[in-house]
Amino acid sequence: MRPKVIGIDTKVKVLSGERTYVFFDNAASTPALERVKEKLEQVLPFYSNVERGIGYKSFVSTELFERAREKVKEFLNVPESHTVIFTKNTTEAINKLARKLKNYIGDGKVLTTEMEHHSNLLPWTQNYDTVVLPVDGNGRLDLNLMEDTLKREGGKVKLVAVSGASNVTGYPNPIYEIGEIAHRYGALLAVDGAQLVPHRRVDLSRGIDFLAFSAHKFYAPFGSGALIGRKDLLSQGKPESVGGGTVKFVSLDEVIWADLPEREEAGTPVILGAVALAEAMEVFQQWGMDELERVEEELHRELYRVLSSFERIEILGGERREDDFPVISFVTAGVSPYLISSVLSFEYAIGVRTGCFCAQPYVKKLLGVSSEDTEKVRQNLIKGRLPGLGAIRTSLSFYNTLEEIRLLRDALDDALHRKDFDYDYDEHLKAFVPRGFQFTLPF
Ligand SMILES: Cc1ncc(COP(=O)(O)O)c(C=O)c1O
Repeated sequence: MRPKVIGIDTKVKVLSGERTYVFFDNAASTPALERVKEKLEQVLPFYSNVERGIGYKSFVSTELFERAREKVKEFLNVPESHTVIFTKNTTEAINKLARKLKNYIGDGKVLTTEMEHHSNLLPWTQNYDTVVLPVDGNGRLDLNLMEDTLKREGGKVKLVAVSGASNVTGYPNPIYEIGEIAHRYGALLAVDGAQLVPHRRVDLSRGIDFLAFSAHKFYAPFGSGALIGRKDLLSQGKPESVGGGTVKFVSLDEVIWADLPEREEAGTPVILGAVALAEAMEVFQQWGMDELERVEEELHRELYRVLSSFERIEILGGERREDDFPVISFVTAGVSPYLISSVLSFEYAIGVRTGCFCAQPYVKKLLGVSSEDTEKVRQNLIKGRLPGLGAIRTSLSFYNTLEEIRLLRDALDDALHRKDFDYDYDEHLKAFVPRGFQFTLPF
């Protein structure tokens, strides 16, 4: 049975009164599953801190937390050589990895790519000598170029850090093949799985050395994420963050660090977040990732068909391929994407995302922005203004419907035929808002 999602019939205030919300920003965060909420309701009366508490609730919480770890291992087929460390999100996981690999990478290099989210770009460029692989004219990676680059670097590249799929174009990367290439040239593979894990079955035993992802993009938005990776490297050196939970023994002269994964989960871990994530994984195991893929592929095909039928819409990247993830970003000729998305929001209750989606180098490349325009964007951003360019991103999930896509089509048709927009920029909401519209909280 298709998993139930919380909030799909939520009514929100729009200019003309009220409408049922349509959520097309699933790549940013997904709503919670009904089953995840039920699980938390069941667990909450037994909630306690984990490890070493002597009391029934502490035993229950510790057991549930460790079972959550086991569920993650089972869901992603994590081999014995790897550990699962709970973090708060993908960004924290990748930053932790970057700090943990200081010894291993040393004065070697990291190869990452132009299509990365800032969270899989900055932790590398800010800490290491980095080679950034450019994308091709369609915004996709060229594996021959990756191989040539690794060959040319002659063993200097110690790590290839690549996203499982782009959060801008939905383009997937063949991670297992990339792993083989990386290993052939003496490098390890780290995968940013933020977009990958919610849409595809992932098998860590097939040459993935490290994987990071977030539960809030996987229907369990309760503050958890994970870094999964090789124990031999993650156990090196001091824990990345030290304090409670990271030690076996402490005196004023000596510290003996705890074993993995505890030594890398400083302080009280994200207990309920981990339990929520495990429940979401359980739900998708029962429903089947193949079915999820099938449903999303159908929705994606329709979304692509609808968007490409508009003359004034230009989809970023090249042609859609069948295995692309259900994410499409586009620009609207002659009118600001910020205005169009405001019409979608304030008049049709359709939620999308607008801007550069934390992937500025990639979006700039896809938009073909000149260095002059880049300077204008830079100045605008420094002054806290809208960048002046960007795109609209629509990202789908299995629970979206063809009817919702038809509503998007009608809304875009209306917005793109307008000559005037009775909207003003609102500094507080950081969006164009219809003149006279008052934003209020729903409760
Ligand atoms: C590809 C990718 N990587 C990393 C992140 C960062 O995830 P988080 O904000 O959960 O740390 C995102 C979030 O949108 C993403 O799409």
